[in-house]
Amino acid sequence: MGKLITILNGPNLNLLGLRQPEIYGSETLADVENNCGIVAKDLGLSSILRQTNHEGILVDWVHEARENSAGIIINPAAFTHTSVALLDALHTFEGPVLEVHISNVHKRESFRHHSYVSLRADGVVAGFGIQGYALAMQRMASLLA
Ligand code: DQA
Repeated sequence: MGKLITILNGPNLNLLGLRQPEIYGSETLADVENNCGIVAKDLGLSSILRQTNHEGILVDWVHEARENSAGIIINPAAFTHTSVALLDALHTFEGPVLEVHISNVHKRESFRHHSYVSLRADGVVAGFGIQGYALAMQRMASLLA
């Protein structure tokens, strides 16, 4: 088993595939989990994907990742644009942090153009659909090599 990468997902992403498919596509979070597992294995890494609708749980999971993970890939969903608590938690994590957005947030409403998480993220992928997670995993492997 290679180094563990924790993939965190914020609110409403449990409904991926059902929720606004014209924006987020028809693939589900289970598809993301499968793809990431395959890509991680090819890269000699292992991955765990988690999703919650609750801000404090995301903070707790970042703290857990401090203990067991080499890197974090995070799609904070709406908390991207609101959560100083999540930013502060990510500042306590020493490894690489990569931020993923399925949609191109910069093409959308102006409130989606600002990300608190980007103040900590080592890289950001947006607008590549769920492929963005796999791209982030590849980048993670480079950063950890
Ligand atoms: C999102 C973009 C956010 O603005 C939005 O609140 C989400 C998903 C994305 O993956 O494109 O829930 O993070």
